[in-house]
Amino acid sequence: MGMSAAPLLCVRDARKRYGTVDALCGVSFEIAGGEVMALLGPNGAGKSTLIRSLTTLQKLDSGSAEVAGADVGANPSAARRAFGYAGQESALDKLLTGSEMLRFQAGLAHLPRVEASSRGKELLQRFGLAEAADRAVETYSGGMKRRLDLACALLHRPRVLILDEPSSGLDYEARRGLWALLAGLARDGVAILLATHDFEEAESLAHRCVLLARGRVAGSGSAQELRDALGAWVVTAAVRSAPRAEDRALLHELFSALGGTPLPESPDSAECAMAAPERADGRVWTDALREEAARRGVVLTALGQRRPTLQDAYLAATRGAAEEVR
Ligand SMILES: Nc1ncnc2c1ncn2[C@@H]1O[C@H](COP(=O)(O)OP(=O)(O)O)[C@@H](O)[C@H]1O
Ligand SMILES: [Mg+2]
Repeated sequence: MGMSAAPLLCVRDARKRYGTVDALCGVSFEIAGGEVMALLGPNGAGKSTLIRSLTTLQKLDSGSAEVAGADVGANPSAARRAFGYAGQESALDKLLTGSEMLRFQAGLAHLPRVEASSRGKELLQRFGLAEAADRAVETYSGGMKRRLDLACALLHRPRVLILDEPSSGLDYEARRGLWALLAGLARDGVAILLATHDFEEAESLAHRCVLLARGRVAGSGSAQELRDALGAWVVTAAVRSAPRAEDRALLHELFSALGGTPLPESPDSAECAMAAPERADGRVWTDALREEAARRGVVLTALGQRRPTLQDAYLAATRGAAEEVR
């Protein structure tokens, strides 16, 4: 991975409250150079609050955050020189051309003209935008706009890159292209914080994930570690297509009798799921579950067994923590 020893982004016990809402209740994590960290969490988890604090748009109530050694609260201008930020909405002025956009951005960052020009050309080349440099941005595809956004964020050579859903709205090809660029930046030693709702993006790009729920870190680790922590298997079952409350209770009882851990389910799903370890007797869980159900006179209408996904781990850690039930 080529990570440098000292972390480039440090968040320590970050807290932020809006009125009576605790948006961040003591969030801590670190990102090393060369590392991509995915920030995952349901609506209201505190992702935007965290990103606004890291990008010096607002101050934390307590705790601290440092970007390349610069404290974002005490020394925001030094922090701003150390990170690049690309938000969810493309910030590009559509009437400008790609080169003009970069020049404008260079002005905002107070970059010397000659250096800005050569850096801009280098980024346009690297991101496959050299041909389109003198075309109005409004003629760009979605993928090209995101790549130009990224070029603008990287103009001042930040060591930390903070991204909010960089690939949302892009088609598969464009997403893959963007991921390859981001992976290349990480290989160059940039530390990347990536807020995303895209589990495939987190799986393919992130070395580690932070699962945020209700302003707290509900889990962290590599996708593999998070999956392994859930269990060896996820086993799903249903009693009828329009389940009643007692069906869920019944299935949870079945799961517990077999030594599985019921997973939180979405109210609109007919299936219940359990996390389960590898069976010592080598049998498949679905057989064991069907047998146990038959013994109790219960007929299962659906039954499945699969390896846990990152999404399973995410749901187990954060379900019930979405905005509505806060
Ligand atoms: N400016 C604000 N004023 C009051 N409450 C806010 C404000 N910004 C965010 N919140 C609340 O803080 C919590 C976290 O919000 P946010 O950081 O936007 O979460 P996310 O980006 O993960 O969806 C939510 O309960 C939200 O309603
Ligand atoms: Mg948000």
